[in-house]
Amino acid sequence: MTRHFITFKDLSREEYLHVIEIAAAMKRERRAGRYLHEHLRGRGVGMIFNKNSTRTRVSFECGITELGGHAVVLSESQTQFSRGEPISHSARVLSRYLAALVIRTYAQSQLDDLAKYGSLPIINALTDEGHPCQVFTDIFTAVEKFPGEPLEKIKMAWIGDGNNMANSWVEAAGALGFPLTLACPEGYEPNQKILAEARAANPLIKLVRDPGEAARGAWAVNTDVWASMGQESEQQAREKAFKGVYVVDSALMALADPRAIFMHCLPAHIGEEVTEAVLESPASAIFDEAENRLHAQKGLMRFLIPAVGPV
Ligand code: CP
Ligand code: NVA
Repeated sequence: MTRHFITFKDLSREEYLHVIEIAAAMKRERRAGRYLHEHLRGRGVGMIFNKNSTRTRVSFECGITELGGHAVVLSESQTQFSRGEPISHSARVLSRYLAALVIRTYAQSQLDDLAKYGSLPIINALTDEGHPCQVFTDIFTAVEKFPGEPLEKIKMAWIGDGNNMANSWVEAAGALGFPLTLACPEGYEPNQKILAEARAANPLIKLVRDPGEAARGAWAVNTDVWASMGQESEQQAREKAFKGVYVVDSALMALADPRAIFMHCLPAHIGEEVTEAVLESPASAIFDEAENRLHAQKGLMRFLIPAVGPV
């Protein structure tokens, strides 16, 4: 059966813990100078980016190379995608060449269709609905920052927009069982269906209005921009809803656990959702998160893409 990583619900708790172990082992090996693995030897992994990217694009491309494969970077505008070739054809054609397809786009349904018609793993590199690779990486990072602590004890806070990142955090808490409190302004909550499903599995998922309530006692305080890619025209309206309240500053961090880390997927809008002092503080895990995209995604690709032949 072809395995995908389209939403955080695609793997089980045991599988995530297994991938975290694979990723941690490869991170240790890389630090010791062993970069190259054989898992993808001779194979291509497609990458489609319909929105901008720095971290995701570079970490996947380097990760594919480090697993012995080759990244085939496609743009919709230069392929037959943009000329109306049916997705049911494109998916089957690409399945004949590629070991997997990494895609960043707007509609989640595009990934569902690729998975429906194709026979290769589809990896969500961000959609309007979710960013599971980032959230998996952030969980890997939090586990690393609190060695010896079970994941279920790591109390997570989300401050701000109920966007793609927030949706994936909700799904992750549903799948993995850790406590998560989200503080979102009215009208900017996470997807209601995702929230209801995750809460049925994990009653420790809470939605509040007050950022202080979410941050109090948290082990990790997480935020993201007020307006995501594709929502640029809403920036002013969103500023009205978020400004001055949904901001991670030193006072908010002081409410968290004394060992708490600050997390942000980046890019950040300094002085909007987070202050420079917090971003640059010793609690800030932002560059470890960015580095860990590479290790976590290498782990995911090793798990999702079956090995072929002698490797
Ligand atoms: N965090 C993240 O996905 O960054 P990029 O948009 O740079 O890929
Ligand atoms: N929520 C942001 C995340 C960027 C990595 C966006 O979708 O633009």
